[in-house]
Amino acid sequence: MKKIVSIVGARPQFIKLQPFSKEVRKEFKEVIFHTGQHFDRNMSKLFFDELNIPKPEYELGIGGGTHAEQTSKMLVEIEKSLLKEKPDFVVVFGDTNSTLAGALAASKLNMPLIHIEAGLRSFNNEMPEEINRKITDHISGYLFAPTETSMDNLDREGLRSKSYLTGDIMVDSLKNAMKMRRIEENASSGFFLLTLHRPSNVDTPSKIIGILKDLEKMEIKIIFPIHPRTRKMLEDSIDEFSNKIEFVDPLGYLDFVNLMQSSSMIITDSGGIQKEAYMLKKPCVTLRTETEWKETVNSGWNILINPEEDNFWEKIISFKTPLKYENLFGENVAEKMVSLIKGF
Ligand code: UD1
Ligand code: UDP
Repeated sequence: MKKIVSIVGARPQFIKLQPFSKEVRKEFKEVIFHTGQHFDRNMSKLFFDELNIPKPEYELGIGGGTHAEQTSKMLVEIEKSLLKEKPDFVVVFGDTNSTLAGALAASKLNMPLIHIEAGLRSFNNEMPEEINRKITDHISGYLFAPTETSMDNLDREGLRSKSYLTGDIMVDSLKNAMKMRRIEENASSGFFLLTLHRPSNVDTPSKIIGILKDLEKMEIKIIFPIHPRTRKMLEDSIDEFSNKIEFVDPLGYLDFVNLMQSSSMIITDSGGIQKEAYMLKKPCVTLRTETEWKETVNSGWNILINPEEDNFWEKIISFKTPLKYENLFGENVAEKMVSLIKGF
């Protein structure tokens, strides 16, 4: 049986790994490396436990630090572990520092490298993810693109011949979660669900506090599971807000999907959540000036709002979704990926 090493480290990667791992183990021996980039129980172990993701064989324990510190330590440890395992394929997901380190280590060892969620571009190099994605795409041997837009981006960069339009693996993650928790489409409960973790929104305390103060003016209940990066910035200020905003710890995937499903609007700067909002047919407000998931904006179900604009919250309240809806992200994606890998 051929061997695949899957490299993960951050919350959205555990969620993407779940359906991939389940499918890949039918045909391959899989070994999981967890870099340790996310390490709190509710940012890491909780997902493995509740989603029945196999325990990683390698826990590298590298979290925190600057970009260079984090990426370089990962690079060294991943290389050592890859040399031990000698896999036939290495798989990396998304665009975090764990993705970049895994891709660099594997490609320098000339190991066949597959990038899941290839071709995403925000065209904003101030985002660390943009740098991670571009490098990973250019050094990977096989690119699994989730959308037509991502295929076009890869084509423009001369990468078409190694690109495959597979659909988005998070379609399978979401479907599995809905089945596990028996979540059904139901009426909205009238609250808004909020997540924020992009450095551009949260790394300056006055900016994140300003955004939350403005959101309070909507006079609508907001549930806000706080990412650890954001909590660090808000630590002393949480008491300054009214009870319109309910601050909660990061949630497990099943609870979070349940909350998305019962919310009446999702406000976020997350990549994954923009897609999930669309898949769940929920109006989504993205507090950024650009997005990698352009098709959700073009469809009318997602709007971009710059939280630095005066009274940006007024636009949120008046946002209405269209009636038209089409499948943008495909289906049975993990199955397609595994059948492609079998042919490589
Ligand atoms: C990372 C990814 C980002 C992704 C996000 C998903 C990079 C450059 N960024 O951002 O693309 O959207 O994950 O959530 O790879 N921390 C904890 N406990 C944890 C995890 C993090 O305290 O479990 C702290 C870290 O020590 C650090 C801060 O939060 O101080 C940020 O963590 P880091 O993994 O560097 O970046 P994220 O903002 O999580
Ligand atoms: N998520 C979760 N619990 C939370 C917040 C988010 O399970 O409290 C899930 C969410 O459903 C999505 C993923 O985490 O699948 C998104 O991760 P995040 O926003 O951290 O990263 P991004 O997608 O922006 O890289």
